[in-house]
Amino acid sequence: MYALKPETTEDWWEVEALYDLCFAPGREALSSYRLRDGVPPVEGLSSVARDSDGILAGAIRYWPVQIGMHKVLLLGPVAVHPTRQGEGLGSALIRDSLARADENGWLRVMLVGDEPYYKKFGFSRLDGVLMPPPTNPERVLGLNAHAPVWQNVQGKVSRSA
Ligand SMILES: CC(C)(COP(=O)(O)OP(=O)(O)OC[C@H]1O[C@@H](n2cnc3c(N)ncnc32)[C@H](O)[C@@H]1OP(=O)(O)O)[C@@H](O)C(=O)NCCC(=O)NCCS
Repeated sequence: MYALKPETTEDWWEVEALYDLCFAPGREALSSYRLRDGVPPVEGLSSVARDSDGILAGAIRYWPVQIGMHKVLLLGPVAVHPTRQGEGLGSALIRDSLARADENGWLRVMLVGDEPYYKKFGFSRLDGVLMPPPTNPERVLGLNAHAPVWQNVQGKVSRSA
């Protein structure tokens, strides 16, 4: 059993260590990190999952970004400890936080990731939305939940003002 809770400042470095473990070295060189530099994550949506002993098993973070004048929520990074993968925890973290994002009025959610994994949550390729290079356009995905809100939302993704 895992408890999902909003991430607090005390969780920050533990989550960083989990991401270091789960992602390839140099993860912070990825272009998506340039959109996060100097911008705090979205409060209340970034979450941690701990087991009954309090051990960190997974985490998800969200940042605000912009496409032109449009506010968009950037999902990620999300990671589950290698010994806990395949138990549904990644899905639980994503579904739980997306539900709260919806409640909080975030209509547009995007991410950079593998469509084969994210399509079950309702994500598909976002045409015409450009992440800072080098990003494979096939990995730029948007949540279809409120599909019409993506109409005419095109161009470069930039850091939240
Ligand atoms: C991606 C990740 C968060 C999924 O967490 P998880 O708790 O294992 O996910 P779930 O248990 O909910 O789902 C597991 C299923 O997703 C599949 N899956 C995992 N990563 C996938 C990927 N990149 N592409 C396609 N399918 C994937 C698994 O094969 C498994 O399939 P199954 O249910 O048919 O066996 C986890 O594998 C992880 O931390 N990976 C390393 C970091 C990472 O790549 N993060 C995502 C960045 S885009």
